[in-house]
Amino acid sequence: MQHFLDIDQTDPAALRGILDAAREMKAARAGRPRGAPDDILPLEGRMVALIFEKPSTRTRVSFDVGVRQMGGETLVLSGADMQLGHGETIADTARVMSRYVDLIMIRTFEEATLVEMAEHADVPVINGLTNRSHPCQIMADLMTYEEHRGPIAGRKVVWSGDGNNVFTSFAHASRQFGFDLTFTGPETLDPEPALRDFITIERDPARAVAGADLVVTDTWVSMHDPQSARERRHNQLRPYQVNAALMARAAPDALFMHCLPAHRDDEATSEVMDGPHSVIFDEAENRLHAQKAIMRHCLGV
Ligand code: CP
Ligand code: NVA
Repeated sequence: MQHFLDIDQTDPAALRGILDAAREMKAARAGRPRGAPDDILPLEGRMVALIFEKPSTRTRVSFDVGVRQMGGETLVLSGADMQLGHGETIADTARVMSRYVDLIMIRTFEEATLVEMAEHADVPVINGLTNRSHPCQIMADLMTYEEHRGPIAGRKVVWSGDGNNVFTSFAHASRQFGFDLTFTGPETLDPEPALRDFITIERDPARAVAGADLVVTDTWVSMHDPQSARERRHNQLRPYQVNAALMARAAPDALFMHCLPAHRDDEATSEVMDGPHSVIFDEAENRLHAQKAIMRHCLGV
């Protein structure tokens, strides 16, 4: 069994295997109704717990549907409704859950919660987003890039905005998959220091985006950020909005990505989100296929 905690903790060959499997599984069910089972059912007889300590649309639905397509069953649990929200330790929760289910996906706040869950669970644990990282999202994003444009290795990826959890997973991926990653945003919202050795930081968004193959952004205020910081963040991040003028600086065939949910006309304009460079709904769809491959990798099935 293997956990899937962060992209920098999974070796490049395994990551490549996940993307290949995701592509094949997607192709194999082309045109089929969403609720129809796959031809092979590797999760038959398996129970998967999906634990959410934060809201979610894509992660919740794509994991739930993905498990069912592969023949398994799910329990969708809110952290607040579990004893987790009332003082039971993460370690004890992990031990107990391991007696009932075959796989745990958790969306939580602190990375330490995820790590403690993985340390004490006897079944694989998948990171469904923490304050620090969002590896499932980036696997879907890489799958989407390669589906449209071929290998990501050697490409120029530019992140404009907050150096947040989704950025951190992109940075991990840049090392594992060998692409160039530039961060453009205000110094106060810089990525975590450990990442700065292998990314480029360019404060001027127009210069940063020049010739980019992929431009990415995310919400200016993440779920774990205090709402009181909203106005300050908006003021700091406004120059980093992805709009038509900024996209015009990228390569002519550049793609635009956003993990969603988006605040339209804040971090990116609707013109860009709905424009010819945008692949945001392919990204959302590919969460389903990428995560099915991640679950198979974790369970070795
Ligand atoms: N992108 C993403 O993880 O979306 P949800 O918060 O809706 O799961
Ligand atoms: N950075 C965002 C991503 C949501 C999928 C957040 O953590 O709220």
